[in-house]
Order: sequence, then C-alpha cells, then structure tokens
Amino acid sequence: MTKLHSNRPLGGFFETNTPRFSLRKWGKRVGLLAGLGLGLTLNAVAQTVQVTVQPGDPKLQISKHIYGHFAEHLGRCIYDGFWVDEKLNVPKQGRIRMDIVEALRKIKVPNLRWPGGCFADTYHWRDGVGPTAQRPKMLNMWWGNNLEDNSFGTHEFLELCKLLGTEPYLAANVGSGTVQEMAGWMEYLNSNDDTPLVLERRKNGQAKPYGVTWWGIGNESWGCGGNMTAEYYTDVYKRYATFAHNYPASPPLKKIVSGANGDDAHWTETCMKNIPLNQMWGLTLHQYTLPTGSWTGSKGKATGFNEQEYFNTMKNCLKMEAVVTKHAAIMDKYDKDKKVALLVDEWGVWTDVEPGTNPGFLFQQNSLRDALVAGTTLNIFNNHCDRVRGANLAQAVNVLQALVLTDKEKMLLTPTYHVFDLYQVHQDAQYMPLQFTSPDYVMGNDKVPALNASASKDASGAVHISLVNLDTKKTLKLETALPGVTWKTVSGRILTSASVSDYNSFDNPNKVKLGSFSGAKKRGGNLAVELPPQSVVVLELK
Ligand code: AHR
Repeated sequence: MTKLHSNRPLGGFFETNTPRFSLRKWGKRVGLLAGLGLGLTLNAVAQTVQVTVQPGDPKLQISKHIYGHFAEHLGRCIYDGFWVDEKLNVPKQGRIRMDIVEALRKIKVPNLRWPGGCFADTYHWRDGVGPTAQRPKMLNMWWGNNLEDNSFGTHEFLELCKLLGTEPYLAANVGSGTVQEMAGWMEYLNSNDDTPLVLERRKNGQAKPYGVTWWGIGNESWGCGGNMTAEYYTDVYKRYATFAHNYPASPPLKKIVSGANGDDAHWTETCMKNIPLNQMWGLTLHQYTLPTGSWTGSKGKATGFNEQEYFNTMKNCLKMEAVVTKHAAIMDKYDKDKKVALLVDEWGVWTDVEPGTNPGFLFQQNSLRDALVAGTTLNIFNNHCDRVRGANLAQAVNVLQALVLTDKEKMLLTPTYHVFDLYQVHQDAQYMPLQFTSPDYVMGNDKVPALNASASKDASGAVHISLVNLDTKKTLKLETALPGVTWKTVSGRILTSASVSDYNSFDNPNKVKLGSFSGAKKRGGNLAVELPPQSVVVLELK
C-alpha cells in the first residue's frame, strides 16, 4: 500500500501566512525596505526603478550554507538517483553516479542533509553499516512502502559527501530510535578511542573519525517525527542533546533543534524559551511553496499551468519573507546576539506528482517558474543572512524541486539547478543591503512585487547583484547607485524562456538554459539595467 505523508497541516502554515506588507489600493506607495522592496510599489508601467546598493556591515556574510541540499531515502533520490545499479551504463565510483556528482560539484554544494526527512525518524543506522550482503532490508513506510536493501548507508553517504566536497548534515532518529542509538552513531563516527563501535568502524574501512558536526535532533517532530507538542519535544530534545557528546578527535557538534512548520510561532517560541542557548547551534523551519496553497486535494501542476496558477505560486512563494521575519523576531527576543542559526532545512515547490509515477515518490518536473521561486527564495534568505545561516532545497535528485532528474542513463539539469549555478557567487560573500521600490506584477485584482533582489561583495572585491523579475510581460528598467563601490565593468548571465511553464525534458534537456546578459550598462557611476520579464539575472561588477 502506498502511504502518503498526510499530517503536514498540523502546523497550519498555509492558513495564516499574512504578508508583512499591507498592499494598498492601486496607486502610490512610499517608503523603502531593504532587499525585496516588499509592499512598496508605484503605479508605473515602465517607470525606472531607483535602486541603491549599500555598503553594509563588512562583518555580515551570506553563509554558504544557505545553498545547502537535501537527499532523503525517498523515491528515486538515493536509490536509482545518487546510488545506481552496478550494471547501469553511466560513470560510477562504486555505485555512486558520477555525472550527478560532477554537476553538483560545479555549483559548490556546501552541505547535504541525509537520510531524511520523515525517513530519518524510521532509520536505524546500524542496518546500513557492515558488509552489504548482510544488511537487513527495510520497508520505507513513509515513501511508497518501498523495500530498501540498506546498501546505501553511513559510509556510502560520507563517501558521497567527500566526492561532492560537502559538509554532511545528519538527522538523528528521535521519533522511533533511542538516545543510545543516536549517541552510538556519534561515537561510531567521531571518536578515536578503542571502543567496540570505533573498532567496528575501522573494520568497516574507515580508520580515522569522520568528524561529523551537523546533527539534526529529530525532524518535523510536530508531525511525521512523532506528532509531539512543542513542550514535549523540547524536553525530549534536551534529553537527546545531553547525550550528544563531543569527542576530542572531532570538532564540536552543531546541535540542531527540529523547528516549526511554516509560520507556527508557538513552536519557535517554546523551543527558544525552553532550550538553553548553549544547547543549540541551530533551529530549523520547514516552509514549502504549493501552487494551490493547499495540502489537501491538488497541490497544483508542475507543468502546463496557466498564468493565474503561476501568479498564485509566486504569491505563495513570497510568503517565505513573512515567515522568516516572524521566526527571526521570536528568536531575537531570546537570543539578541543572534548566536542561534535559523536553518530553513526544507523548502521548495511541491506539486502533484507526474502522471503515472508512484504518488509516494514525489517525482515532479521543474519549470522556469520553479527557477523564479528559487531565485526569489534565495534572495529572501540572503537578505535575512543575519539570522538565516543555512537552508536545504528539497530535494537534490528526482524528488520535489530537484536540481537533477534522471531516467536510466539519461540525466538533465533543471532550471532550478541553473539558479544555484548563478547564485553560488554569494556563498560566504559580504552582504550588501539593497533599497528600492518595486513595481507591481498585477493579475486581475491582485498583485505582488515584480522585482526582488540581493547583493554581495566577494573576497576579491567583485560585487554581485541577483535580480528576479516575476512579471511575465513587463521589462523592468533599473537605475542603480552603488555609493562607495569602485567598478569598471559589468557582465552578467540570465535564465529565462518563452514561457514560465517551459522545462527541460529528456528529449529537450536544454530548453531552459543560461545565457549571457547584455542588458546592463555603466552610466557614470551608476548601473543601468533592463531586466526582461520572467527572468533571473546575476550581474558581476568589477
Ligand atoms: O521533503 C519531503 C518531506 O517533506 C520530508 O520527508 C519531510 O520532512 C517533509 O514533510
């Protein structure tokens, strides 16, 4: 029987996402907001948007971990995704698919979350170590009741991370596992003393400790991770965290609290109030974009949607701004120095599955619309980099808003992949706040800000500005001042296509692809940009 994850509405985030801006009647708006310019619009068809790139605080960086990814034992993400049959005729190292690794290396994946997701709270790590033939099989009860052979376990995941050059981010089983099981996993990975677990790791081929520092203590503990109340979970968290030991042979653990569902303020408030700050390095948040905005019935189509459906998706995507702002404000009350990172460790577009595919596998196509969601969401995270210091798109391969899709030997890069390629310039760069007033993108009686953006300066002094125009018809003209920045040249790349529903298929894998952008010019000390409709552009000023 196919079992679908159906308890998402517990936190009810889709009911109450109130935009932090108040949209007034069609007309003049005044004021400025950093970054997204939300809620501030002019009734101006082709009026030039005045943008200022501010120097910002030289100490404030956009953490590279905002550009993290997620690989769950779900559908064809691990099995028949990263980890393939020995006989499949693709470049492999062991059974790790190297064309995927090569593609992901190009976009510099900073961290990879594993083994779930909901799956994490059913996973028993000992089933996935030791000789492969002796590993027990297991039913993946969350995702299609698939029978898994545990051939991809801890060592295989850490080998994948090594090949990718990425930080492993493990989710410990709190829902159905024990404290002892989690503590044993940590000892197995991080200790170098001659305990039975360490001897076992060495026997299994890894002499040195792995030094895994990122540990999620549970996942969605309000839902598939145990249906707990916030109050109960915080007690459970403290108990598990107490036995999450540091080992001298490995760097200290970064303990991560399983956080809120969407805009569930009570969950965040309870975690921040009940858990001492020195017992948590990070607190998570899960916020997905559903085209219809509803977890019941249809979530919306991945392709073949009309403009109204596209508009609704973007409106739902923009709720991330209000959700992050809300949680960050609660965290500020308890943690004025912003020591605890907010990690949006699940985000992305969640549509109906592709017709004819297993509903438990969450396989969906990925269009230019999804790339616009990615560009917009990453701009939101960049603009909240004082608190948002990590995020994980769900998911890397063949699941939800994937970067890579595969069909036997074939592999394609989605439009979303190209956004991560464009935005990698922001990783660990100095944040530069933006000021502007966005024009509206109007649909019937409704509207959203057409423009969103973020900017940063890298170690070499180059300034990068990422711009998204959500309007399907209007070009946006920008006049940009950059006080204090000395620059001579501007270059850029663009992602766009004839329709927001265009996508890359195995027959036409490069329909939506990056191109060079010539719509930016130096005008005196200013930067003039003509930003085409439905596009993501990243500019480099040197
Ligand atoms: O990413 C798919 C699922 O969404 C994850 O397993 C779960 O944490 C969330 O509900």
